[in-house]
Amino acid sequence: MSNIVASQIEIHHPYGGVVPEVASRQHVESINAAIAQALSQAQTDWDGIDGIAVTCAPGLVGSLLVGLTAAKTLAILYNKPLIGIHHLEGHIHASYLQNPDLTPPFLSLLVSGGHTSLIKVEGCGQYQTLGQTRDDAAGEAFDKVARLLDLGYPGGPAIDRIAKTGNPHAFLLPEGKISLPEGGFHPYDSSFSGLKTAVLRLVQTHQQQEIDLPVADLAASFQAIVAQALTRRTIDCALNYGLSTIAIGGGVAANSLLRSHLLRAAEKHHLQVLLPPLALCTDNAAMIACAGAEHLQRGHTSPLTLAALSRMPISQVMELYQQP
Ligand code: KG4
Ligand code: ZN
Repeated sequence: MSNIVASQIEIHHPYGGVVPEVASRQHVESINAAIAQALSQAQTDWDGIDGIAVTCAPGLVGSLLVGLTAAKTLAILYNKPLIGIHHLEGHIHASYLQNPDLTPPFLSLLVSGGHTSLIKVEGCGQYQTLGQTRDDAAGEAFDKVARLLDLGYPGGPAIDRIAKTGNPHAFLLPEGKISLPEGGFHPYDSSFSGLKTAVLRLVQTHQQQEIDLPVADLAASFQAIVAQALTRRTIDCALNYGLSTIAIGGGVAANSLLRSHLLRAAEKHHLQVLLPPLALCTDNAAMIACAGAEHLQRGHTSPLTLAALSRMPISQVMELYQQP
């Protein structure tokens, strides 16, 4: 009914990344106003609210605690059920918001500042991780490379913009394959730290030789290899697991090249790709509410002792709920 985002991008911009302590304090500053605005935009009051969904894992614990404390307080005050939500389950639900007829099983590619995962969605609360990053997340790679290229924070949108004016074939960069002990490569896992180091080396070489850095070409080459690697793994995974629908989510799902690569590859293999609008790809409250509504409908509610966790595999989400 409403979707209010209190963005902190401007606040963290001077630091070139999220400063955890600043983020928690800013959550305290913003949360009451955001809640009031959400109710007013939805033209309702607490009588019109069935339950309170809140992200409780994984993430920066200081920030999660602010949301969790607010949610628990409201649940007690207005006598509403509390529904803890796994952040990635929220991102998956952005696709349900956009496509209400979507039904599992399907493959979800989640690419955000903290995650790069290929997840088989089997049902509400039922997830199997098939592939993930072994080091940096895709969004983290975008942010780190943007910092190396002096493009500011957040890096993803900046690289996306400048890459449009660059040559994606200018530099040959590594795709970040994961070797397996028995030989060959992991089909779905990724690594982005080597790619980031390759960009760093190029920046250093240009500086040492006092040559102007071809920023747009580097950004375009970096973005092209990331989009290519993610697309190939996602399509292979969908085909090998017999999943005909791919839903994408997380901030990096807003990337224009990744979106077009995925669409083209999926069409070739007769697969369906669901691309949520940009505002539902990056962090938002609607996706958390949507996941909360699904769980509440099934009688899944969380105890008031629910804790904030910095890490939690998505396969364990049902541990957040009491037995109905
Ligand atoms: O999902 P999200 O909003 O927050 C997390 O849960 O992390 O994702 C934020 C990430 C940042 O790393 C940002 O640089 C990246 O998403 N991002 C993009 C684009 N827009 C945001 N990356 C590539 N291209 C974009 N257009
Ligand atoms: Zn996110």
